[in-house]
Amino acid sequence: MDKIIVEGRNKLSGSVSISGSKNAALPIIASTILTAKECALTNVPRLNDVLVMNKLIKTVGGDTDFTGNTLYIRNKNITNFKAPYDLVKTMRASVYVMGALLGRYRQAEVALPGGCVIGERPINLHLQGFEKMGAKITIEHGYIKAKAKKLKGTEINFDVVSVGATANIIMAAVLAEGRTVISNAACEPHIADLARFLNKLGAKITGYGSKEIEIRGVPELKGCKHEITPDYIEAGTFMAAAGITNSKITINNAPLEHIEIIIQKLEEAGCKIKKTGTKLTVQGVERPKPASIETRPYPGFPTDMQAQWSALMSLSSGASIINETIWEKRFMHIPELNRMGANISVKGNTAVVEGVAGLSGAPVMVSDLRAGASLVLAGLRARGTTEISRIYHLDRGYERIEKKFEMLGAKIKRVK
Ligand code: UD1
Repeated sequence: MDKIIVEGRNKLSGSVSISGSKNAALPIIASTILTAKECALTNVPRLNDVLVMNKLIKTVGGDTDFTGNTLYIRNKNITNFKAPYDLVKTMRASVYVMGALLGRYRQAEVALPGGCVIGERPINLHLQGFEKMGAKITIEHGYIKAKAKKLKGTEINFDVVSVGATANIIMAAVLAEGRTVISNAACEPHIADLARFLNKLGAKITGYGSKEIEIRGVPELKGCKHEITPDYIEAGTFMAAAGITNSKITINNAPLEHIEIIIQKLEEAGCKIKKTGTKLTVQGVERPKPASIETRPYPGFPTDMQAQWSALMSLSSGASIINETIWEKRFMHIPELNRMGANISVKGNTAVVEGVAGLSGAPVMVSDLRAGASLVLAGLRARGTTEISRIYHLDRGYERIEKKFEMLGAKIKRVK
């Protein structure tokens, strides 16, 4: 299994370009099932989750060409309505094909995703929404089957904000009969990007980016070309890297409107931020000031930046609190950070971080995608060598992360 080796205490400098958003690319690729016409997606990040979604499209009968960062998809001959367990178990976002298949073919079968390391990750809201639109849901032999004679628009009010359920219901509603209104919808930039893509195909979606989304069903969709929005979590990760290494890094294509809360928190921690057009420069500090966070749905502080923030705060000049309100088990990076010299204690969904003056390199293990990012950041700051294993988690969601850090001057390499 590949590992990443980092020699810490090197100043970073220069600029980095952010890849397309994983969490936008995944539902957008799945949603191409809704049209028989060709879709051309550009700025698609080449990372493992995207490759799995591409495989899933081929499994249901779609035809794809993935060259560089452009993905062409033709879903003329979908013949299979089943997402098999061997793909779903590697990537929970496989459940997105359910909304798309149900939307176009009125039937879908998806393996039950099961638990995952950061929490229970239920999909009850997705299924309740499909049922409310007229689908019959059964669960047998580890598979969820959804079938409908026709799907009808309806009002769906989520009692919890869910990115996945919002995306899945949008997909099911686009070709449904009549009007669907989703209240308490997720406002994340990836939901807005999905809606923009579907509208280019001819869908009628309004209100995306807000808590109430309206979808008016249309009979069919056409093809289009669409550029995936930049990944604001990747941008946030590089911003935190500047913060933790006391370096100056410029992000060439920062999605400024999506990272306001991250900018605000980094400034609270004492980092200097400069915006010039779409460029964003972050200058870190030797000891960040303590800046507590609580994870919230967008536009709140993203749970997908919590682990990276924990790494940054581990070096702060005082104590800070990290409250995780989205995923109940998302503190798996803390024991690893503590093995590198951090002083963080966890009680329930709260971590209390007592800042330390320095970290020391150690062998550490990645438990999930963003935990992996936090360990890379800690390794960049630590004295000595950090050997990071189980980096397949990182490869799920970052495109060539070690190459990007190497270009910024980090001593980092991947070993087989
Ligand atoms: C997506 C992101 C993930 C991010 C998360 C929260 C993708 C591919 N993944 O995951 O990176 O961490 O949003 O921003 O975009 N919930 C229910 N019932 C449901 C669905 C969710 O109770 O049917 C709860 C979950 O337990 C969780 C919260 O809602 O507490 C948010 O989950 P959700 O937004 O659905 O996360 P994902 O879409 O799986």
